[in-house]
Amino acid sequence: MTGDTASKLATVPFGIKNPELIPAERYYDETFFEAEKKHLWPHAWQMACRLEEIPAVGDYTVYNLLDKSVIMIHTNDGVKGFLNACRHRGVKLAHGPGSCSSEGFVCPFHGWRWNADGENTYIFGKKIFSPEIVDKAQIDLAPVRTEYWAGCAFINFDDSAPSLVDSLGPVTTKLGNRLVDNLRVDWWCGTVIPCNWKLAMEAFHEGYHVMQTHPQLYDGTPNANAQFGPKIDGKPVLEGLEGNALTNQWIRFHELISEGMGGGIFHQTDMEVLEKFRDMDVPKDPAAAVQAFYSAVVPAVEEATRQRGAKTFNIMEAMQTQNYVEFIFPNFFLLPGFGAMASYRMRPITAETCLMEIWCLVPRGENDTTESPTEPTILPYDSQDFPEIPRQDYSNLPLQQIGLHNLDYMRIGKGTGEENGEGLISNYQRVLDGFLAGLDHETLRKAQNVSNSGFNVGILDIGF
Ligand code: FES
Ligand SMILES: [Fe+2]
Repeated sequence: MTGDTASKLATVPFGIKNPELIPAERYYDETFFEAEKKHLWPHAWQMACRLEEIPAVGDYTVYNLLDKSVIMIHTNDGVKGFLNACRHRGVKLAHGPGSCSSEGFVCPFHGWRWNADGENTYIFGKKIFSPEIVDKAQIDLAPVRTEYWAGCAFINFDDSAPSLVDSLGPVTTKLGNRLVDNLRVDWWCGTVIPCNWKLAMEAFHEGYHVMQTHPQLYDGTPNANAQFGPKIDGKPVLEGLEGNALTNQWIRFHELISEGMGGGIFHQTDMEVLEKFRDMDVPKDPAAAVQAFYSAVVPAVEEATRQRGAKTFNIMEAMQTQNYVEFIFPNFFLLPGFGAMASYRMRPITAETCLMEIWCLVPRGENDTTESPTEPTILPYDSQDFPEIPRQDYSNLPLQQIGLHNLDYMRIGKGTGEENGEGLISNYQRVLDGFLAGLDHETLRKAQNVSNSGFNVGILDIGF
């Protein structure tokens, strides 16, 4: 690290000095929250909407984060973001999803108007204004930089930031191989959680919580104790299974994820395929049995996907390099299963509350006319209508938020080598410090690329 970088990082309030210790104030201190508002959000790529929310020219939706509001419009030239403010005296123009194809946008105060391309089309009594303050550039809606990936439009308020794909790094290739652009929404829900936005994210950054928070998953995973050892009674979990007792248990494991996620990650359509392989004839040897099982199941999942008219890909190959959770700095997630995925986004509301959304995404055929939802279903975080797994994850967060006021540092498991750790929490939090310190774009781009290397990793060198 250069002396200049070190002196910039030293200015960050509650900055990380030891990568294994995360200061608790970062989750509630108002100064820290203001620093994020000033130095992170105006410079980071933010997933603003899924393209399918606004499929036709003139469709629009609104993306809000803290005091910033952006209208995402399907213009004649693709989806673009515009600041959500009348360029006369600032009235907010759009309040949720809709279509402006017939009326355009009309300001309710003095009636200025815009079309679906964000161009001003009408001003009452334009002659009362000096021409230089109402030239085209000043009265068309103010554009916000917009780029696309994974079927989503991302925005960035910083015109000099590296491109979206360069910022995200190799994860885009990995998920691109999984045809992530082709996924469509099966369901979308959201909830306000009484915790800092980063705390909500970190509940999905490691598998270390599975034993206690999701005991049904731990108990249902063959050889689950291989990573973190047996439970308190010292008994191994599901060890010694062989033949189709083992492959049936793998079906059960996928079922537990699918049911626990409301069909997310492993979609019902995939589970119907897996079910056909219950009691299949496999060798007794565990490794050979698992090999025979997946060699039969995965092509069958691909074939079923094709038969629904959707594109598919080499799932077996993708599974070799996949993480169950792929994190996209600063606040977006994709969780691949076979062809389907779940997706998460966390947004701050206050220092101690956030909005978390979950999407269940599935591969759909081009001729599939299922309409995608345009807004999430919002439920209380402790609603029994949430599937079991997110409900279990949410249940810890309000308690952790309160407890953090009585803690000095979070203690992060660095993992064994580069695996089996809580390192992602430290990795992305140190990237955040880089933003708060105002490090240069190239340094931040490289660090983001490293932070986007999936969950369960160790503490990695982010370059500073
Ligand atoms: S504030 Fe919008 S037209 Fe005046
Ligand atoms: Fe969890």
